[in-house]
Amino acid sequence: MIELTKEEAEAVVGLHAAHVVIYAKSNGTVLSGSSTKNIEQARALVMATIRFDGKIGFPGGFIDPGETWLEGVNRELREELDVDTSNDHLITDDHYVFSFLDKASGFCLHLYACEVTEEKFVDIERGAHEAEHYGFETLGVCRIPLHTSDKGTGLPSFLQHYFVGYAKEELLRALKHTGILSEEEIELAVKIARECES
Ligand code: GTP
Ligand code: MN
Ligand code: MN
Ligand code: MN
Ligand code: MN
Ligand code: MN
Repeated sequence: MIELTKEEAEAVVGLHAAHVVIYAKSNGTVLSGSSTKNIEQARALVMATIRFDGKIGFPGGFIDPGETWLEGVNRELREELDVDTSNDHLITDDHYVFSFLDKASGFCLHLYACEVTEEKFVDIERGAHEAEHYGFETLGVCRIPLHTSDKGTGLPSFLQHYFVGYAKEELLRALKHTGILSEEEIELAVKIARECES
């Protein structure tokens, strides 16, 4: 991945795509072990999608010819999650995180991170099954576990899934950018995931 400034990314001629990490701060709890005594603070609800190809990704997609990045990404949220963005865009410039060139595909990719209320998050989850592309492009939405248990389950386990493109790097970047997890927490989860994989 070659990181670009926004100005550099805007100048790239070729295919652009944008994806979004949708999240909500949460006071809820989540099961973190086999006993019901093992509970952890959920801290935040973070949304990922299961794609048609079996990989984990984020909602979003290609920017079509003539669209701005924001028009494209909001349209993709409508198609993939049934979020009504026709009059009021959910994603704005305030949610922009970063852009990069994916050397393997040649695509210029943009990441947004969008905080919503917990109520809105649940609303999006529930509505996702009504989306035009649900069952075709998107096979489900899921929440990402953020805790690292002493057995290495939680985020380290989730990181061992097969992610599309650079979606795993985008997840880590978004967790850091939004302050949902500290750098130390992210590093620990990545380290445990790597040890499990090798
Ligand atoms: P179509 O409408 O079927 O073309 O799909 P789409 O517009 O929804 O595009 P998609 O979401 O598949 O994203 C376009 C390309 O970006 C994909 O071919 C992947 O290579 C890549 N991609 C998909 N999801 C992600 C993601 O979450 N992060 C990153 N970095 N790349 C992704
Ligand atoms: Mn059960
Ligand atoms: Mn799509
Ligand atoms: Mn998509
Ligand atoms: Mn598309
Ligand atoms: Mn499509």
